[in-house]
Amino acid sequence: MSAGVSGASAGVSGTDLTGRVAVVTGSGRGLGLAYARALAAAGASVVVNDVDAATAQAAVDAITADGGAAVAVVAPVGPTETADALVAAAVESFGRLDALVTNAGVLRDRVLWKMTDDDFDLVVATHLRGTFTTARAAAVHMRERGEGGRLVLVGSPAGQHGNFGQTSYAAAKAGIVAMARTWSLELARAGITVNAVVPTAITAMTATIPVYQGVAEAYDRGEPLPPVVRREHALGGPEDVAPLVVWLASAAAADVTGQAFGIGGDKLSLYTYSEEVGVTYHDGGWTADAIGQAWEGALAAHRQASGITLPPLDAPLDAPLEPAG
Ligand SMILES: NC(=O)c1ccc[n+]([C@@H]2O[C@H](COP(=O)([O-])OP(=O)(O)OC[C@H]3O[C@@H](n4cnc5c(N)ncnc54)[C@H](O)[C@@H]3O)[C@@H](O)[C@H]2O)c1
Repeated sequence: MSAGVSGASAGVSGTDLTGRVAVVTGSGRGLGLAYARALAAAGASVVVNDVDAATAQAAVDAITADGGAAVAVVAPVGPTETADALVAAAVESFGRLDALVTNAGVLRDRVLWKMTDDDFDLVVATHLRGTFTTARAAAVHMRERGEGGRLVLVGSPAGQHGNFGQTSYAAAKAGIVAMARTWSLELARAGITVNAVVPTAITAMTATIPVYQGVAEAYDRGEPLPPVVRREHALGGPEDVAPLVVWLASAAAADVTGQAFGIGGDKLSLYTYSEEVGVTYHDGGWTADAIGQAWEGALAAHRQASGITLPPLDAPLDAPLEPAG
């Protein structure tokens, strides 16, 4: 079915968001700020959200200076009260809510045996619970209004592959993609699409990763990034990720739901849903010994790698890649 907001404003089509209203959580800086600015540049009015009041206000000022419309809600995502306040701000300031981008996030990286309860809970509360409560509030509003809508959730390569030191983050991000796939089923009849963006970009968050410090400094100096960084590491600026959010929020993506897109630098990709890559049967059920034999015989050849594997930052590209379209 065609899910979405197409046709609600005469003359608005494609990726034009004129008359639309979007909430972007964690949009004071980094990727969220880029999403908010790009959505506003495409015509949407934007509710900016952050825990940092100064960056939230600066984001509103930047959007307004560019000729856009924005208001700020300074509150942590996670609690239901914040979710309700975000939807209320959209409705009270701009009359409706068409698109929610659940971007707010924190890192508290520790290996499992050093991970504290508080660090685990903060990451899960922000990413997973924050996505759940804000999406629920948005879905209630969108279903009542009956004109469809867009939920754009934010995953991470860590959630897709696992990543050393990221117990809570990988768990939350994997859960977010699972929620996107679940909600795409539940909200299809209401014309609400739900997709996940799996971004990579140079931000304050990535600048904390030692291997990327040099790249982040080069980016801050305005230097062009090497092709291996922009293509294989899929790393550029937040502005390289924002067009995917605009497209997903628009009428052009009305039929796209339940998908997880990777984007960063010059790379755009689509992630698979988990599939059974090796299957075998044992009449009457399995014994432990039979499972051991099946592992050696039918399954081990399909053994899955854990972790994100990337070439060294100074590696040449194996072969010149053709520019995409
Ligand atoms: N940068 C990357 O390469 C990358 C990769 C994968 C996923 N992500 C995800 O993209 C999102 C944005 O990342 P970023 O790199 O721009 O990070 P960032 O740290 O630069 O920005 C995150 C923003 O969220 C805000 N925030 C933190 N907790 C909040 C809360 N409870 N409520 C509201 N706002 C809150 C912060 O104040 C900050 O402004 C995150 O969900 C992150 O996990 C980023």
